[in-house]
Amino acid sequence: MAPTHIALARATGNLGQPILSSLLAAHHTVTVLIRPGSNASSLPAYPNLTIAEVDFSSVSSLTRALAGAEVVIAALATSTIGRQNALIDAAVQTGVLRFIPAAFGMDPCNANCNALPVCVPKAAVQDYLSAKSRESEGRFTWTAISKGWRATLYNGGEVRCSATLLADVVRAVLGVIERRDETRNRVVYVHSAEKDGREWETSVKGTDELLKEIWADVEEGNVDGANLGSCIVGCLDEEYGCDYTGREANELLGVKMMTEDELRALVHSLV
Ligand SMILES: NC(=O)c1ccc[n+]([C@@H]2O[C@H](COP(=O)([O-])OP(=O)(O)OC[C@H]3O[C@@H](n4cnc5c(N)ncnc54)[C@H](OP(=O)(O)O)[C@@H]3O)[C@@H](O)[C@H]2O)c1
Repeated sequence: MAPTHIALARATGNLGQPILSSLLAAHHTVTVLIRPGSNASSLPAYPNLTIAEVDFSSVSSLTRALAGAEVVIAALATSTIGRQNALIDAAVQTGVLRFIPAAFGMDPCNANCNALPVCVPKAAVQDYLSAKSRESEGRFTWTAISKGWRATLYNGGEVRCSATLLADVVRAVLGVIERRDETRNRVVYVHSAEKDGREWETSVKGTDELLKEIWADVEEGNVDGANLGSCIVGCLDEEYGCDYTGREANELLGVKMMTEDELRALVHSLV
């Protein structure tokens, strides 16, 4: 596809780094947004790469940095995902056409998921994006990428759940940029494998029990504990839409399912 000018908000994290590498390998023009004091030394020197230091809470600072960008990808840390509105406002003001929010998690169309502590701010961001798209009469659009659990089979349960490799999340991001018409204003689900955990040696724990622990963590201010617990519940409980089979956008975005042998080899390499 033709090179596109893409702004990547935070490129030093788990997702940001491989997304940046893939964008550069695909010859896109990239502006990476970093916060003052961020360690940008890990970012590669590249002719098509500009690094802009911004104040993530300031629309005017962000607007300057986004000049010319068609697509914004937010790869913000989970702890800061509730703070994307300034970036969204700046994207609307500068004429960005597509915004991919920091979501990359469980099903944002599932009401149970959206009530989990880690998802509450993500759901609010998605409502904000929808409102901004309507106000712009569809010029400004968004796509949220929903991925399954990482290639870790947690719990000894019988629940079939979707799992997504990091490389496939990155492939999905590129797929959204390539297939912008088909991915306009929607959630796209991608998974690399879909399995239950009975074949592996695992521990069994009910998600009911985990839910109690999550809310106890919230009360105690243990944000990391609540976030981790929320991810496990959202990704491994069928009431939370954890199996994407039948609604996945894999083919559209060029994400392949792993074969049984590939999945088996991967799990054995991890345990
Ligand atoms: N990693 C996963 O397996 C996973 C799983 C499910 C969902 N997700 C979702 O994917 C998105 C990105 O996750 P990630 O794991 O790539 O994020 P991350 O590595 O934890 O953080 C991304 C970037 O955010 C900045 N940052 C980190 N801590 C910060 C803080 N306290 N205040 C302000 N900025 C901070 C840093 O960038 P600078 O220093 O350059 O500013 C960092 O490189 C999130 O929406 C997350 O919920 C990730």
